[in-house]
Amino acid sequence: MTFARIIGTGSCLPDKVVTNADLAKTMDTSDEWIRERTGIHRRHIAAEGETTSDIGLRAAQRAIEAAGIEAGDIDMIVVGTATPDKIFPATACIIQRRLGISGGPAFDVSAACSGFIYGLDVANRFIRTGGGRTALVIGAETLSRITNWEDRTTAVLFGDGAGAVVLQASEDTGIISTHIHSDGSSEELLHVPTGVSIGYDAVQAGEAYIAMNGNAVFRKAVATLDSIARETLAGNDIDKHDLDWFVPHQANMRIIKAAAKKLDMPMERVVVTVDEHANTSAASIPLALDIAVRDGRIKQGELLLLEAFGAGFTWGSALLRY
Ligand code: ACO
Repeated sequence: MTFARIIGTGSCLPDKVVTNADLAKTMDTSDEWIRERTGIHRRHIAAEGETTSDIGLRAAQRAIEAAGIEAGDIDMIVVGTATPDKIFPATACIIQRRLGISGGPAFDVSAACSGFIYGLDVANRFIRTGGGRTALVIGAETLSRITNWEDRTTAVLFGDGAGAVVLQASEDTGIISTHIHSDGSSEELLHVPTGVSIGYDAVQAGEAYIAMNGNAVFRKAVATLDSIARETLAGNDIDKHDLDWFVPHQANMRIIKAAAKKLDMPMERVVVTVDEHANTSAASIPLALDIAVRDGRIKQGELLLLEAFGAGFTWGSALLRY
């Protein structure tokens, strides 16, 4: 049986760091409020002119280097992003060109914070069904471009960053299963109310901003992450205590703790980066994964559960042996 295995990870954060105290200088908020309600201490913000493909490319190059492959070995590129460089071409095509390769499929997946898990699902199926041997899956965002810096209820939550993995066909166990879902019935609880087709003027004016009902999203996220964890474990006949690591989407420390509690996972076994990165949407899971791989916490052969929830609503998971 052929598996898709992660053979390299990489990530990239913009240089500029904005702390809670920095935000408190320009809006009615405080370091204490943000830490208590979200667990966030700081976030990285893209410099002027720095794009999603810039940071996605750097994350990809680091993943390629860690995998010990050449860019030319890559058969497919998928980028999960809600903040592409351009309307088209896809950010994946831009990164493909900048990697100096061509020919294989390269496309973006729009699934908000679940974009990386959706991309992983597609790439896993591509490899397992023999579409190719090697795939690059990236989550990359410049959410600062769609953040209203005058709205304290959303501005404190988000950050910019990118993470990437190289998947390769292997006889050894890699991705065991992926699970993806969506439900469009709650569109207005978490969205950017304008866009290309319904209001391009606002896009041009730089006024296409994230809008959210934080309380409702919070409740939905906690319940949904519990159900996707149950589905993933039951589908593979795996007990939650067999998991070595939980790598959740990094939206809010309270959401992460609630999900970990339901899994009976001690927090030492949960990869947390929301304090340092805030919510980087599709980038958050591959970023967290790369950090825990590089600092030696996650080791080869360990069993990982990855979980995401985002606008759509979309949600998904991946169970894998690293
Ligand atoms: N600083 C200070 N006060 C604030 C701030 C702020 N940045 N933001 C809101 N407040 C105030 C509110 O105005 C409110 O004041 P009031 O009581 O006088 O009306 C008070 O704080 C409490 O507001 P709540 O919204 O009830 O606070 P809550 O504890 O729910 O925390 C939060 C808000 C952090 C947004 C929380 O609901 C949350 O994390 N929700 C999930 C959001 C999320 O994760 N979204 C993304 C997930 S999906 C994805 O990643 C795309």
